[in-house]
Amino acid sequence: MTPPRRQPVRRRTAVLPREAVLAAVPVALAALIGAAGPAAAGTTGTAGAGDPYFPLSGNGGYHVRHYGLTLRYDTASRRLDGTAVLTARATQRLTRFDLDLSGLKVTGVTVDRAAAAFRRDGQELVVTPRRALRAGRQFRVTVAYHGTPKPVTDPDGSPDGWIPTDDGAFVAGEPQGAMTWFPANSHPKDKSSYDFTITVPEGRTAVAGGVLLGQHTAHGRTTFRWRETRPMAAYLATATVGKFRVERYTTPDGVQVYNAVDPREASAAAPVLKKLPSVLAWESKLFGPYPFPAAGAVVDHAPGVGYALETQTRPLYDSAPGLGTLVHESAHQWFGDSVSLTAWKDIWLNEGFATYAEWLYAEQHGGDSAQKSFDALYARPAGDPLWAYPPGDPGSGANIFGTPVYARGAMALHELRRAVGDRDFFRILRAWATGHRGGHGTTAQFVRLAEQTSGKRLQPLLHTWLYGKGKPNRP
Ligand code: ARG
Ligand code: ZN
Repeated sequence: MTPPRRQPVRRRTAVLPREAVLAAVPVALAALIGAAGPAAAGTTGTAGAGDPYFPLSGNGGYHVRHYGLTLRYDTASRRLDGTAVLTARATQRLTRFDLDLSGLKVTGVTVDRAAAAFRRDGQELVVTPRRALRAGRQFRVTVAYHGTPKPVTDPDGSPDGWIPTDDGAFVAGEPQGAMTWFPANSHPKDKSSYDFTITVPEGRTAVAGGVLLGQHTAHGRTTFRWRETRPMAAYLATATVGKFRVERYTTPDGVQVYNAVDPREASAAAPVLKKLPSVLAWESKLFGPYPFPAAGAVVDHAPGVGYALETQTRPLYDSAPGLGTLVHESAHQWFGDSVSLTAWKDIWLNEGFATYAEWLYAEQHGGDSAQKSFDALYARPAGDPLWAYPPGDPGSGANIFGTPVYARGAMALHELRRAVGDRDFFRILRAWATGHRGGHGTTAQFVRLAEQTSGKRLQPLLHTWLYGKGKPNRP
């Protein structure tokens, strides 16, 4: 990636003529210094969202309000045909902007119905609209594409994205796999609503997030229409395809549940999936109201994936989950999905919280106390990988799903609980989920909330547990 260029200060409130004058400045400057760049500094959206762990994930210069994805997947040939319609808003003047897209062939791009120039540059789809978009303007991008999607390999070695299975595809996207199946502004900073229209061979089911609007079969193909109205990060989108047994019901709280289960996993999954409503009810008591109108699970048979993902409203499991995993992915609906990260570095806000939810579940359902879970981990010697790096600063994208993030992240919460007591601790968790619902939260904001809610100074303790090198000492 080229280092970000210095951008001229630009006032968004500038009146039009003045803005036009300002816009001319970078062009002149570029000409003066002989910059060979294809567009003037300050009017091109950046190729990344500014996240050092995944520098090319996401893009600068615009926000996507809505994705309309129309997909057709042929499970035999593994060919995907897609049209993506993005409704976006420019956050700066844009002569050019990027989308994230890995592999696949793009056959056409339009911006506000006019054909736009585009080129591919690694995982970037670079779009040059016919006319510059002024700051604040809403615009619509259409991308037509097709090909055989290929998953990417994350820095931790895991496959990520559109992962073919023997009967369809396991479609996950954390942290960077969304770009393997649709053009996206793929960073959790940017959250959007989604419509999915997915056509698959008759007999297969395509499952996305949100509610099922309808399905119909014609000429040997079935089309599924899904709608997620709540803001969702691209990595939490799925369009998982397979031969599934489907179960639908509505919980007493009015949440629409849709479960899709690979028959090979059905008997192992059944007793755990039966607990989903009670797990969500239990978590709602602890964390505040369930943030979405829909819920469920996709239990696939995807050996080789090696993880589950908290896809929004409907977590995705690579095989029948244990109860702990169900509790974990469900807790992510509050922590990670509803309240999202602004940087991957803060991943402990997702994984530490979801892990602590598992500890709490055990504690309140006849298992080990959270204290016991903590003690077992704390007993590990200073050289144990658990203490290899601090959860609040994992150091790189290769470490974001490591034990220090999950386990020591949960330990940090446990230490917070011990410091403030149960009453305030659960008030903090609820205030976090409720106050940032549908939005974002940072570690600094969490620490501040904990201090404000409890009236205690907690920065030193949390700093030790989140940022301290090596095994923290306990007082
Ligand atoms: N967030 C998932 C979980 O709840 C883990 C995703 C792992 N993804 C990966 N590419 N390694 O645990
Ligand atoms: Zn997790």
